[in-house]
Amino acid sequence: MEEIIELSKESSTQTGELGITVLNQWIRENYREQGLTYIIKTWGCQMNERDSEIMAGVVEECGYRRVTQEEEADLIVYNTCLIRENAEMKVFGNLGQLKALKKKNPKMRIALCGCMAQKEHIVAKLKKSYPHVDLVFGTHNIHELPMLLLESYRRNKRQIHVLEDGVKTYQNLPSRRLFDFKGFVNIMYGCNNFCSYCVVPYTRGREQSRSKDEILAEVEAMAHAGYQEITLLGQNVNSYGNDLDSSIVFSDLLEEIVAVDGIKRIRFMTSHPKDISTHLIDVMAKHPTICNQLHLPIQAGSNRVLEKMNRKYTKESYLKMLNYAKATIPDLTISTDLIVGFPGETEEDFQDTLAMVEEAEYDFAFSYLYSPREGTPAAMDPNQVPDDVKHHRFDRLMETVNPIFLRKNEALVGSSLTVLVEGVSKNDASILNGRTEGSKLIHFPGDPDLIGSIVRVKVKRAQTFILFGEVE
Ligand code: SAH
Ligand code: SF4
Ligand code: F3S
Repeated sequence: MEEIIELSKESSTQTGELGITVLNQWIRENYREQGLTYIIKTWGCQMNERDSEIMAGVVEECGYRRVTQEEEADLIVYNTCLIRENAEMKVFGNLGQLKALKKKNPKMRIALCGCMAQKEHIVAKLKKSYPHVDLVFGTHNIHELPMLLLESYRRNKRQIHVLEDGVKTYQNLPSRRLFDFKGFVNIMYGCNNFCSYCVVPYTRGREQSRSKDEILAEVEAMAHAGYQEITLLGQNVNSYGNDLDSSIVFSDLLEEIVAVDGIKRIRFMTSHPKDISTHLIDVMAKHPTICNQLHLPIQAGSNRVLEKMNRKYTKESYLKMLNYAKATIPDLTISTDLIVGFPGETEEDFQDTLAMVEEAEYDFAFSYLYSPREGTPAAMDPNQVPDDVKHHRFDRLMETVNPIFLRKNEALVGSSLTVLVEGVSKNDASILNGRTEGSKLIHFPGDPDLIGSIVRVKVKRAQTFILFGEVE
């Protein structure tokens, strides 16, 4: 018999804190000597990365110790993504390989959470074909992890708990951040936009803004701990506050965050073009701590396709806003997301996308092949673009955008940029890497003691995706 509570609308009564105390005690009673170890693997976007930091904090409070290899772990958590088919396939591939590992370590627990867990057909597949997965919990159930683990240990029964939507009570749980100099701060969850290709509204629920006070408290704590850079996260930050009683909008929130002492760089993502305001751009221009970087996903350059995508803007209105931003913030770095091969996309539509990227002159773009996602309107469109056509268009898109990126990077040669030093190069410990204010990756020789600080670097050389420089 399995413990199954699926796609329930009820909220759990077990708070995260309570679970932590009980599980901690149980682990101390049962594994006093050796303790337990964990590893969390994360797929997908920054939302998932942040959730993984919270889960890491929670399990460490429960008494687990982090390891870097699955072979050494007593708890393996897969925090999954469903945005495109390849993300899903990778997780299933990895899960299959865990079967043998689990045989060697009977106390091992395998958990699958994140966006894949929100889909009924995936939970059904896990139940049928992946009996070695002990815990399945959704994006709204993170705070229940300790109690689900405890139930699994005590009763040795599979735990499946997925809420359809939920209040994000878990933000006040402990977290173990990946870096101690830069970090993400959630300002809102979920998405109300239902772009016709996208699974996120189904996996993350409706938009929920965090209160200004809660956000400011988190930012202040980070500033106090010495954080230099924060990135504010939301699927559409421009609709921040729409669901709150106060009349606060995103640009107001930004101005409050700017006033927090100590944080040197503020970024945010993602800005939906339908909701971005000139006021937001003015606020960015006014405050030097708000990075001159804008990620504004266009998705496609054809108005016909944009309409079918349910994006609610036109290429003309997008360009108007982009041009305003460029004129107001002259050294602005701009990036975008592009989807190739959306159902019904004609050669002419695709040409519009190519023309758009030429005109916008992006510094960087994340380009994707359209991937049909079960349950979304676009997946049911009978006019799917054949794979070979999609791939061919994708290659042509790369041929168009890569020279633009290179040109934009080359224009920076000779300039002096501020860089947050993030780490050392994998191949050469004397080479540091960091990000410019525009979020461009830059390599330069330097002392690893500089990691976590902001330095001035003179750009010496440029490639398509990377700059090279020297500390000034
Ligand atoms: N909320 C953000 C995007 C989150 S998903 C926004 O609206 O900009 C990140 C990107 O994944 C999207 O911008 C889109 O380009 C891409 N994407 C989403 N669903 C996709 C699908 N079914 N196939 C291919 N790419 C997709
Ligand atoms: Fe997906 Fe659109 Fe929401 Fe972005 S705004 S998460 S693309 S539905
Ligand atoms: Fe993936 Fe979920 Fe993010 S589907 S992109 S992890 S919101």
